[in-house]
Amino acid sequence: MTIELKDVVFSYPETPDKSVLNIQSWAVSSHQRVFVHGPSGGGKSTLLNVLSGIIRPVAGELTMLSQRLDQMTNRQLDRFRANHIGYIFQQFNLIPYLNAVDNIRLANQFSKTIPQAELHANIIDLLTTFGLDETDRDRPTEKLSIGQQQRIAIARALINKPEILIADEPTSSLDKTNRDVFMSELHAMVSETKTTLLFVSHDLSLSDSFDRVDSLADINTAERAY
Ligand SMILES: Nc1ncnc2c1ncn2[C@@H]1O[C@H](COP(=O)(O)OP(=O)(O)O)[C@@H](O)[C@H]1O
Ligand SMILES: [Mg+2]
Repeated sequence: MTIELKDVVFSYPETPDKSVLNIQSWAVSSHQRVFVHGPSGGGKSTLLNVLSGIIRPVAGELTMLSQRLDQMTNRQLDRFRANHIGYIFQQFNLIPYLNAVDNIRLANQFSKTIPQAELHANIIDLLTTFGLDETDRDRPTEKLSIGQQQRIAIARALINKPEILIADEPTSSLDKTNRDVFMSELHAMVSETKTTLLFVSHDLSLSDSFDRVDSLADINTAERAY
């Protein structure tokens, strides 16, 4: 198993009596592509933040790649995330005034998996695979098309060769054409690199091509807040 949760409970510090997550048992095996759907406010982003070690469960066992995240120090969590998890955010979160290469280099600075000497070449290779030529690589990402920005966001998430790729509604700001292109590029890259993919969205129409589709409401027994 790549991801395994057992009796994981999470509540935000402001509202300790209201659990947002209460997951008795849930697992994802390696190389699986899993789509988790659920309505807005259902706890999708919270789940992804727990899985990537950004926030800690209040109780329960969280095992990722055979390591117990719930037993790690903050420092170990940061290192684990940098070395093993790629994250694609809802709004891509690229730094607008930096070019593609520098955006990706920044994502790599906490990881030790790639020697610095190889890093630049790897970034160029990855961007070339994604069809970003030399001129576009040097421009601030805010000057690029939304389609190019989305490809840079996938490239950034994959630069550390993570075993697990996590995507939080990454297509919500895209029109239908860009959305379709994004999904097919994502699936192509994930298949090629044999990355485990965890993708969350409220939009079930994106769930084609996934190995498994889970409903968060079935996994998470926490009382809904809406
Ligand atoms: N930082 C936070 N502090 C307190 N409550 C939060 C925070 N982030 C989200 N929540 C609450 O947790 C619940 C789940 O939110 P979220 O995980 O963002 O859902 P989704 O991603 O499915 O829309 C909501 O009730 C939301 O209001
Ligand atoms: Mg969310």
